[in-house]
Amino acid sequence: MIVKDIIVEKLEKAFEKLGYDKNLVIISYSNAQGVDYQCNSCFALAKKYGKKPIDIASEIVEALKGTYEFIATVSAPAFINILLSMDFLSDVCNEVYKNPQKLIKKPQKKLKVVMDYGGANVAKELHIGHLRSPIIGEALSRLYKLMGHEVISDTHLGDWGLQMGLTLAQLEDDGYLEGYFGRGKNKQITLDTLNEEYPKASKRKSVDSEFKKKAEKYTLCIQRGEQPFFTIYQDIRELSVKKIKENYQTLGCTFDLWYGESTAYPYIEKVVNIFKDKNLARESEGALIVDVAREGENIPLPKKEGEPQRYKNPMPPVILKSHLDADMYATTDIATIYMRNLHKAPDKIIYIVDFRQMLHFVQVTRAVKLAGISDENQEIVHINYGTINGKDGKAFKTRSGEVVKLEDIINMITSSAKNKLKENGIVDNDKLALQIGVGAMKFGDLLNVASKDYIFDIDKFASFEGKTGPYIQYTGARINSLINKANEKPGKISIEKNEERNIAVNLIKLFDSFTTSYNDNSLNSLCLAAYNLASSYAQFYNNVKVISESNKEKKQSYITLSLAVLDSLKLALNTLGIEMPEKM
Ligand code: ARG
Repeated sequence: MIVKDIIVEKLEKAFEKLGYDKNLVIISYSNAQGVDYQCNSCFALAKKYGKKPIDIASEIVEALKGTYEFIATVSAPAFINILLSMDFLSDVCNEVYKNPQKLIKKPQKKLKVVMDYGGANVAKELHIGHLRSPIIGEALSRLYKLMGHEVISDTHLGDWGLQMGLTLAQLEDDGYLEGYFGRGKNKQITLDTLNEEYPKASKRKSVDSEFKKKAEKYTLCIQRGEQPFFTIYQDIRELSVKKIKENYQTLGCTFDLWYGESTAYPYIEKVVNIFKDKNLARESEGALIVDVAREGENIPLPKKEGEPQRYKNPMPPVILKSHLDADMYATTDIATIYMRNLHKAPDKIIYIVDFRQMLHFVQVTRAVKLAGISDENQEIVHINYGTINGKDGKAFKTRSGEVVKLEDIINMITSSAKNKLKENGIVDNDKLALQIGVGAMKFGDLLNVASKDYIFDIDKFASFEGKTGPYIQYTGARINSLINKANEKPGKISIEKNEERNIAVNLIKLFDSFTTSYNDNSLNSLCLAAYNLASSYAQFYNNVKVISESNKEKKQSYITLSLAVLDSLKLALNTLGIEMPEKM
């Protein structure tokens, strides 16, 4: 039961009856008082049929008289206003209660989709920069599944790059690896060790070229599987992945595959040979590269003394092998596509990665298309997202200007949720505080168009009022408590009062927003529609006396409508990856 389709169908019938082109039916939501939808077709019809728009509007309205679902009226200059009937709205709500999924318009073609998100880097601690990919990725995965697609989620850990060699070199210098090298005893390496050693190495590489060279060499040793480097690497990886898994679990993010860049290693030579055999790869300054620029791109600009070469419309080549013969970031991504196609043959691959990697994904996509590793029908999409800023509008940092650890953010927002719970008389409930804290963080993120930056405002996000996750969770808890108190069975919904009508319309809009969010690859519409529904329910809750209602049928209708709202909000939150607590 897709409400918009039903209205369009009625309009199409009226158009046909009057001899007008039914393809010109256009409707949109209206915010005007007493209007649900507006049809704007009359101007186009007037042009096509050489009549006055207002006359056409009147004709159509006349032809729509007696329609069960809505009342149509003419509004100046030549719009058709559509007001849904109370009977039809009651039917819609009863359907929502019975089978909410039926209100979501789903795509006809079911796809197999690989979702690549998370992308934590082994040996590096997760920080605020790693928050958006798992949040958006998890929600999109759930939305795609809801739309009927088969989703395979893969976190694609960063575990094959220079950071591994850097960490190893630093650990060696600090005496941790003597046992591995057969020179004495190993010192125990913990997560804290890694958290200290990698940043140290990362700083050192820009000032100590000998050290950088050693790190590059060790990276290569790992990539070639040489001992003891490979064993050390595996040990570090295991330690780090355990922590990454814990972090993602706290965030409620799940993955079908815990693969990493390294998983594609066995396919790298094969893939490099494909480029070589097809004459797509060439040597440049000792590296192996693939040109992916098209006409009008990467045009060298006049070179200035002492400055690096610059380009108009830059589109640098893909580097498959560095001058040291190391595999690059793009190499592992290309080999991963090869591997995915070999084993899963997805119709679509979606990357949920920071906007700074836009160029990388254009390069990788072009390279795999050129080489025929991905056929032309396979869609490769990069969903990019913006930066999380502080209230000052700059990237969110600690007071002392450092990058904030992911764990610290989760703790901050959870403790804010705890304080709010305390105000409501709920203490000692860590699980609930975490549900609310994580919900607050996720909703605060997903409410924004994914590609935009947003301001991370803990107090605002964790508030039980306004456009927040906790507000929607709180609405659910209120409904639960109302239903417990009312002690009445569900029955048939009959929409009569304005407050009920508002809920019904917001239910329709919520189910519509699943499709909008799906088409936009961004969950902001769904978040906003869930908020609007919750807020229309608050009006009902405040103005309508449910528990003391003496008419049994009416009371049953209220209860059933409340349950329909609860189920719909649960479905929305579940899609966003947010839990709905029973009580709060
Ligand atoms: N590890 C990468 C980073 O931190 C993100 C991985 C994204 N996925 C991919 N297939 N490249 O930047």
